[in-house]
Amino acid sequence: MGLRFENKVVIITGGSRGIGAGCVKTFVSEGGKVVIADVRDEAGAALQDELNACGPGEVHYLHCDVTKESDIESLMSTTVQKFGRLDCLINNAGWHPPPQVIDDISLDEFRQLFNLNVLGYFLTCKHSLPHLRKSKGSIINNSSLVAQIGQQKALPYVATKGAVTAMTKALAVDEAPHGVRVNSFSPSLVWTELTEEYLQKAGYKDIDLIMKEMGRNQVMGRAGTVEECGKLCLFLAVDATFMTGVDLPITGGAELDYGRKCHTQP
Ligand SMILES: NC(=O)c1ccc[n+]([C@@H]2O[C@H](COP(=O)([O-])OP(=O)(O)OC[C@H]3O[C@@H](n4cnc5c(N)ncnc54)[C@H](O)[C@@H]3O)[C@@H](O)[C@H]2O)c1
Repeated sequence: MGLRFENKVVIITGGSRGIGAGCVKTFVSEGGKVVIADVRDEAGAALQDELNACGPGEVHYLHCDVTKESDIESLMSTTVQKFGRLDCLINNAGWHPPPQVIDDISLDEFRQLFNLNVLGYFLTCKHSLPHLRKSKGSIINNSSLVAQIGQQKALPYVATKGAVTAMTKALAVDEAPHGVRVNSFSPSLVWTELTEEYLQKAGYKDIDLIMKEMGRNQVMGRAGTVEECGKLCLFLAVDATFMTGVDLPITGGAELDYGRKCHTQP
């Protein structure tokens, strides 16, 4: 089989590490030209150099804060100047705050998270669409399983991810006449630097132990990997030609079964 993304171009926000980096590696391994848009310059440049040394695709790192419209405008123009086209946008740059109850959440904190997790996706969608309509490309939004099932002490995060899943469907309706597909995927637990930082801030000391415990929240008994997320995105970008407005769970069955859910003693 030939390379599945050869000579095609994808922008991956938050591609310097974690799930975004998993997507970068997958698309490069299939011959893609990948633009990493991130604020983590050192890690992004290092990943760019590492992958360009092996190919078969090509990586270009660009500093881009997705909450700044001017950064996104120059991301789009630089991408199209360098690679001539845009076939796919993967919206992934986001953050999960440490556990917090409503009494301790300030309006400003909520607004800042909404700016990043939702309006960042909105802005990249808006400015990439003129190019995606030309290529009949697609948008893939990284949402979260918690948008469907909730999560304890994570009100703003859950709300932002609910907005991502809903926005995906609204945009899919509007863009179908232009030949652009818009889908999302919803991981449960994926082992990344963000997960580790979250657990540390939540006060866990033995991270390996808690990760094993949390693996059991999936019926498959483990966390997902960034490579598995990359493969799912490749499927949505390349193979899912009759799918739009869909939210694909990548959860190891975390939403299945009926079991202990109460967080306090009765
Ligand atoms: N890890 C999980 O278990 C999990 C589960 C469900 C959904 N998600 C979602 O997956 C996405 C990636 O999560 P991750 O675990 O890989 O996190 P991560 O922190 O490891 O990676 C996120 C990347 O986004 C970048 N980023 C943050 N703010 C940015 C900004 N303003 N502009 C540009 N880039 C920015 C960071 O620098 C980082 O490289 C997030 O949207 C997250 O909500 C993660």
